[in-house]
Amino acid sequence: MRIAFLNPSGKLGGAETSLREILGSLRLGQPDWELWLVLGEDGPLAPIARDLGVRVLVDPFSPALGHMGDAGRRGSWLRLAKAAPTTHRYIRGLARSLREIKPDLIHTNGFKMHLLGAWARPPQTPLVWHIHDYVSSRRMVSRLLRLSGRGCQAAIVNSKSVGSDLRSLFPGLLIQPLYNAINLRRFSPTGNKIDLDNAAGLEKAPFGTVRVGLVGTFARWKGHQVFLEALAGLPPDVPVRGYIIGGPIYQTQGSQWSLAELRQKARELGLAGRIGFTGFLEDSPAVMRSLDIVVHASTAPEPFGMVIIEGMACGKAVVVSQSGGAVELFTPEHDALSHSPGDSAQLTSQIARLARDPGLRERLGAAGRATAEERFDARQLSQQLVELYLKAAPYCRVQSELSAAQLQ
Ligand code: GLC
Repeated sequence: MRIAFLNPSGKLGGAETSLREILGSLRLGQPDWELWLVLGEDGPLAPIARDLGVRVLVDPFSPALGHMGDAGRRGSWLRLAKAAPTTHRYIRGLARSLREIKPDLIHTNGFKMHLLGAWARPPQTPLVWHIHDYVSSRRMVSRLLRLSGRGCQAAIVNSKSVGSDLRSLFPGLLIQPLYNAINLRRFSPTGNKIDLDNAAGLEKAPFGTVRVGLVGTFARWKGHQVFLEALAGLPPDVPVRGYIIGGPIYQTQGSQWSLAELRQKARELGLAGRIGFTGFLEDSPAVMRSLDIVVHASTAPEPFGMVIIEGMACGKAVVVSQSGGAVELFTPEHDALSHSPGDSAQLTSQIARLARDPGLRERLGAAGRATAEERFDARQLSQQLVELYLKAAPYCRVQSELSAAQLQ
């Protein structure tokens, strides 16, 4: 069995972290399968996939294709038109690569690859879209997806919430929710930590300081501003230091904070010495373990929210912005706390509550770990995917070979 995964970015955003776990889980669950990964950009995901035994092909996007925005802003169509010639060339090249790889099924991750995959796939090769974000609010993306939708047999969605959004555009498509999962041995309460103060170029925080972090890409809707405002609202006697961990990783322009902008905001809010910027740190489990409180602060509905389950799996107290698919991941006051999206005052009071109450942090952390073990264990992914590929591709070789294997 040969599956080709197509992913636009080589960097480790949420969708790539999700893909990494899928590749790892399939490698263990289906050791005979041949897995290919085609990337539109080189980056840390390439060696990680190679180490997992995946055959990686980096076929870089042209700058015009890489920078093509998709947030529905004005000018997107113009950029699309400008990128058309190189996109056309890319599709031809991708089609050639896919003919050589001869996959039994193509699994695409990320909008650009959903489209490119639909246009470049060899006829008869089933295509499964793995949709990680809301589509209906993004005008250009949803129009283009609709134009290409006939090439796709099924869509995996990362939450029920994203599924109902997609269903409004594709009423007849097979849409299957599959929650992301993580390697619970890597993401565990015990293991190495990182000196976050050092990574941020700050003096060591005094003993007893509670470390609160926002971990993620610099997409504007991830709520960095809310986090900074929430920290600024804390009473001076709450011994907290905040950390912004991550960076502007995507090629898409205009939709991300720059580090300079965030530093400026922190200065304006008088947070000097109370906040550190570490940049992107690759060892996410160690990052989680180095924090006492993990904050998720997205201001728009979060399709899933990898950091939520990563923090829970590492036994940390997590504060979640309660909207979108993120609400499907936890039970408020049991395995995490919540606040309303964009409400920095509520976030302040949840951080203060946790900072003052180590017992509460511990209880939430233990319950969070238990939830992760029950619901987000990557070892279950491969079985769920096999079932899904079967549904998506009822007439292809995946079906016959898997049925034969299951009969044995
Ligand atoms: C996207 C979504 C995020 C999700 C990730 C993995 O990045 O925006 O919510 O956690 O994909 O599915």
